[in-house]
Amino acid sequence: MNLPNLKEARIRTKDKVEVKRDEYKVSDIVKNYFKDKKYLVITYGCQMNVHDSENFKAIMEDMNMIETDSMEDADLILLNTCAIRENAHNKVMGMLGRIKHLKEEKKDIITILAGCMAQEEIITNEIKSKYKWVDLVIGTHNIHKLPLYLETVIKEHKQDIEVFSIEGDIIEGIPSKRDSKYKAWVNIMYGCDKFCTYCIVPYTRGKQRSRLPEDIINEVKELKENGYKEVTLLGQNVNAYGKDLDIDYTMANLLEDTAKTGIDRIRFVTSHPWDFTDDMIDIIAKYSNIMPYIHLPLQSGSTKILKAMGRRYTKEEYITLFNKIKERIPNVSITTDIIVGFPNETDEDFQDTLDLVNMLKYDLAYTFIYSPREGTPASKIKDTIPLSIKKERLAKLNKLINKYALENNKKYKDKVVEVLIEGYADKDNKLMGYTDTMKLVNVDGNENNIGKIVKVKITDVKTWSMDGKIVD
Ligand code: SAH
Ligand code: SF4
Ligand code: F3S
Repeated sequence: MNLPNLKEARIRTKDKVEVKRDEYKVSDIVKNYFKDKKYLVITYGCQMNVHDSENFKAIMEDMNMIETDSMEDADLILLNTCAIRENAHNKVMGMLGRIKHLKEEKKDIITILAGCMAQEEIITNEIKSKYKWVDLVIGTHNIHKLPLYLETVIKEHKQDIEVFSIEGDIIEGIPSKRDSKYKAWVNIMYGCDKFCTYCIVPYTRGKQRSRLPEDIINEVKELKENGYKEVTLLGQNVNAYGKDLDIDYTMANLLEDTAKTGIDRIRFVTSHPWDFTDDMIDIIAKYSNIMPYIHLPLQSGSTKILKAMGRRYTKEEYITLFNKIKERIPNVSITTDIIVGFPNETDEDFQDTLDLVNMLKYDLAYTFIYSPREGTPASKIKDTIPLSIKKERLAKLNKLINKYALENNKKYKDKVVEVLIEGYADKDNKLMGYTDTMKLVNVDGNENNIGKIVKVKITDVKTWSMDGKIVD
């Protein structure tokens, strides 16, 4: 049993991170026990969690298990959780209630709580005292040890909690059962050292650790050989890639080397404005297989609020970077994240955000009401702004964001764009895919188009998507 500890989670050690290549093992005991049993992985949160779930799924299949999408059929249910906002918590707690119900009828279901919530001291304490029927809690730093912990669970029939607050090493060689045959997530770094004052991620994901360039490039090459058309390089702060390595190698170098593998499409998330270098912009502009799409979280348009958030850029610095990217990368689309209702955000501060949105006209934005997270500095600030005002601000902001999303999309009407067709859209039997600039497009077509990059003429545009016809 290892419990998380908030104080430890804040620590950033100078210890050298090791790359370990032979840590992942699956014993015959678990392989035999779980043979042909069914697993269900339910994922919340960001792309990082989505990719971790691909790892969990492959680990379960190494244990001879079979995936199911039905809770009723599952012998094992793993919740891969997110801690970023309160509503993410609530969803998971609701789901635990449903599983408890199921377990009353099917006693042997193994329940696992994984992901960022597992890293939170308050949650783990609650699971330990009030949710004793949850079999295993596993943190974000040790997912490769899942088979080992499950061995204990099946032998001892009691709750096991295995969460480490101080991150471990970089583990290579964890398998992945990828959701798509054409697009793949590739981790380039783990953790985050930015400690924005509102954010829980530096506590749940540990210190920044970059994977070695050759490991990343080899993964991309292998994906390309296996027919993948697109990779998304993943990290909480990809622009800071390499800063923690002993070698002189940056995100710009990594982007260039990835481009040289010749894979058709390269994306990367997320870019903190602080570390965005001119070299990076030049490389993105130079290589046609690096997509002209940048997610550049703003958070707030008020320099005062940005300072309180610990974002380390001013409104003016952000505008300069934004304009530089727009000038140097032809046809680039830029999206963002914005938080409204940070403690003591005044009407003037919020107006600054609206003014900036009016000026920069984002292609799209993900907007959130600030949610205090236990243990973060911002959660200690006394807040005088009522929730009703925060909700009004969010609605007002969303209206503006939608206006510009539609306005930007209108520029695509009657144009021919390249779309990677991923599969069928949920409705109308149409196919769906994304442009290089990350615009969702629905088209008529057939099986043969799936997995290919096709030319599409845009016939109609909406706020969130476009319709088009394949022209080649
Ligand atoms: N590493 C990324 C962000 C990851 S979290 C970056 O810094 O750009 C994704 C988004 O969730 C953030 O950009 C922020 O807008 C939002 N977010 C994070 N913590 C939040 C909180 N406590 N309340 C509301 N929104 C939050
Ligand atoms: Fe959170 Fe800031 Fe790190 Fe992004 S950069 S993960 S918002 S602490
Ligand atoms: Fe959520 Fe953890 Fe991602 S808190 S947003 S799943 S890094």
